[in-house]
Amino acid sequence: MEPLRSLILAAAGNDVVRRLVSRAPGTRRIVDRFVAGEDVDAALAAVRLLAADGRYATLDYLGEDIVERADAEHTVKAYLRLLDALGAQGLTDRAEVSVKLSALGLRIDERLALDCAGQICEAAERHGTTVTIDMEDHTTTDVTLRLVADLRRRWPSVGAVLQSYLHRTEADAARLAAEGSRVRLCKGAYAEPPEVAYQHGHDVDLSYVRCANRLLAGSGYPMFATHDPRLVAVLRERTRWYGREQGGYEYQMLYGVRPDEQRRLAAEGETVRVYVPFGEQWYGYLMRRLAERPANVAFFLRALASR
Ligand code: FDA
Repeated sequence: MEPLRSLILAAAGNDVVRRLVSRAPGTRRIVDRFVAGEDVDAALAAVRLLAADGRYATLDYLGEDIVERADAEHTVKAYLRLLDALGAQGLTDRAEVSVKLSALGLRIDERLALDCAGQICEAAERHGTTVTIDMEDHTTTDVTLRLVADLRRRWPSVGAVLQSYLHRTEADAARLAAEGSRVRLCKGAYAEPPEVAYQHGHDVDLSYVRCANRLLAGSGYPMFATHDPRLVAVLRERTRWYGREQGGYEYQMLYGVRPDEQRRLAAEGETVRVYVPFGEQWYGYLMRRLAERPANVAFFLRALASR
């Protein structure tokens, strides 16, 4: 892993850094770039804005690594409110939801996380939309894939996420590339050790292409989550090579990252879905976004220094 990236991700876990960043006067501006807002209204406004130029959304209620059962219930309620609002406003054909199992109590009790995720899947189905289960650090990969498989038995549209930086992922991609499966392929955003993950960007990219080939060779619905222009160019060639029509796969990007490219792909007829986080628990999400790009850190430091 690149040194700056691992340094930022390591510092992110430190309480002093957390307090400093959370209270710094310039932080709000950076948060606003990557987070749609704090409440459901802000999330829905983002969905409408994206829909106006043909983009779709996947909405993430921010939060992770909760340790109290009450917090898991709070997360479920937030998703149920969100899904009700999407349904009431006729936006379920434009937006689905993304969910982190650690926000549903995965670290407390696997059963709790499964029950909570089930309630969200149930509501999503009732409103005619889908759920994708985000992937977190490598210690949770097995359990996350197992719980996704459990959920898929009752709600077959539940999507999984794979991270190309993990050595194991090509095999997971081959296994998951089956009829009816929805699989988001990303590079991976956590600090992972060399025993389990490629440490150099080039190896992560090569793995991404191998995993994409596996997904495209199968009969599932691949969701290519990357802003990397070289990978997008390769993916456009690969999708054609595998005879995939537009609409038989999609591109996904993050809210606030390369919006012009999102619009360009959508204008060319590609399905483009934007990951839209909202809520007050933005810290962990923001730190991963900063770690992804050194230029963000410079921007961040300037904002911290300004008032
Ligand atoms: P890379 O990091 O190489 O960036 C390529 C280019 O994109 C950069 O040069 C820059 O131009 C632009 N860019 C990328 N990130 C940027 C940023 N933060 N700010 C500004 N510009 C940026 N990860 C995970 O572990 N589990 C998950 O469930 C998900 N889910 C997910 C959903 C969606 C829709 C996306 C797009 C991404 C994720 N990720 C994720 C994050 C993912 O693993 C990865 O960390 C980021 O997408 C950055 O990787 P890229 O593929 O964009 O390439």
